[in-house]
Amino acid sequence: MRRHHRTTPRITRLLGSLLMVAAAGAFTTGAAPTSASTVATPLDRVIPAPASVEPGGAPYRLTPGTRIRVDDSREARRVGEYLADILRPSTGYRLPVTSHGDGGIRLRLAKGPYGDEGYRLDSGRSGLTITAYKASGLFHGVQTLRQLLPAAVEKDSVQPGPWLVAGGTIEDTPRYAWRGAMLDVSRHFFGVDEVKRYIDQIALYKINKLHLHLSDDQGWRIAVDSWPRLATYGGSTEVGGGPGGHYTKADYKEIVRYAASRHLEVVPEIDMPGHTNAALASYAELNCDGVAPPLYTGTKVGFSSLCVGKEVTYDFVDDVVRELAALTPGRYLHIGGDEAHSTSHADYVKFMDRVQPIVAQYGKTVIGWHQLTGATPAKGALAQYWGLDRTSAEEKAQVAKAAQNGTGLILSPADRAYLDMKYTKDTPLGLSWAGYVEVQRSYDWDPGAYLPDAPASAVRGVEAPLWTETLSESGHLDQMAFPRLPGIAELGWSPASTHDWDDYKVRLAAQAPRWDALGTGYHRSPQVPWPTD
Ligand code: ACM
Repeated sequence: MRRHHRTTPRITRLLGSLLMVAAAGAFTTGAAPTSASTVATPLDRVIPAPASVEPGGAPYRLTPGTRIRVDDSREARRVGEYLADILRPSTGYRLPVTSHGDGGIRLRLAKGPYGDEGYRLDSGRSGLTITAYKASGLFHGVQTLRQLLPAAVEKDSVQPGPWLVAGGTIEDTPRYAWRGAMLDVSRHFFGVDEVKRYIDQIALYKINKLHLHLSDDQGWRIAVDSWPRLATYGGSTEVGGGPGGHYTKADYKEIVRYAASRHLEVVPEIDMPGHTNAALASYAELNCDGVAPPLYTGTKVGFSSLCVGKEVTYDFVDDVVRELAALTPGRYLHIGGDEAHSTSHADYVKFMDRVQPIVAQYGKTVIGWHQLTGATPAKGALAQYWGLDRTSAEEKAQVAKAAQNGTGLILSPADRAYLDMKYTKDTPLGLSWAGYVEVQRSYDWDPGAYLPDAPASAVRGVEAPLWTETLSESGHLDQMAFPRLPGIAELGWSPASTHDWDDYKVRLAAQAPRWDALGTGYHRSPQVPWPTD
């Protein structure tokens, strides 16, 4: 029987929890369990909410003798090693990753109704098995397993346990293939280790795309051999006048490799024709008047444009796209296209008509911010919608019409999904041009029915952008992404039937000890019933 959250009576769930408390008690010596750590987390307390949960039976218990058994495939073994790396420091167990023996934690690749990213998790007294068709499914199943284990499992020193996983079965596949997070490394530069940290934080919630906003007015962040001053000069500062920085090609490849190890695809963005002051400052010939403007360290938008009428502009775009495409194993290249307020509409259309084929020529699929729908989106292109409630009906209709004509949509409504918006007027970091976005507002919308007249089938998924005009260190990213990012991740992964703020806020609150254990900061929104200690 498949049981979805909405159709599970609350009383049944409560009963299930009580049974699990009783079962967990069987493993303690005599006395009834008193500490929360002896109670296995109910199977439906995970974010994103699993598609289907069937609790029952005795819990699984991790012991000093547990093995992580993997199929004899390199990819499955990698997921096993990743899991072992998480579990060893806190459990203190050896946890060998092996393709022999029985019992223990098993990561199994098999045909089944899992798709590329889905999985099944079976937990019981004799073992815990995650089954998937692809390694990505095993990896997502491992994220579920982490959340079913006590938060202390995330710590980097030995903890007492016990390490129980409630008995039962989870069957889980994502609602959408696109579950993205964007990081703006242009307004403030974030180094490779900071990006890796963010990757690890978002992988826990089954995010599978990392969109890197690599260029803007304030900084160009990726080395381009044929135009070296883009990075060395154009990347030499940031908002507020700090030293900025850029990724060498080796740095970028390391980010791509690390993201892939967490089953995330990197989506690089070069924003054009606007948001290009860093490039225009680096090369005078890119300017219509042949004069390079100074570097820019403020936060205004819409004042810069590549010179649409000059041939050198397309040589530049060709070189940049060619080099970036060659570094990027992923399928997509994002060309921005937002806020081109210094480019006439006719020039904007002309520019996009020239640039989109260049992206295709180097084997990538175009993504643009939704203003691309005001030009002619290439066949197969995706438009990333970042409008808000007050966006004009005309603009929304333009995006909906493109969607009706085959343009896929990634939904990032600024007054819901933008992680850089302040929660309230008192939030010290962030911006508020899209309004204040508290945790409930961020979570409480349905991507499938969001944009009027856009067919639900056009929606490829959701993405949470994190713009960094006001954010200059990882701790700042934490405060804005958490606790909102898990909500966007849930909208991207979980069936609409699981969507329920009152249920979600309790699951969200339960993430706090895990963030504490991981060293992830978060905003203690009063909308969430955080545990008190
Ligand atoms: C954007 O926020 N300008 C895409």
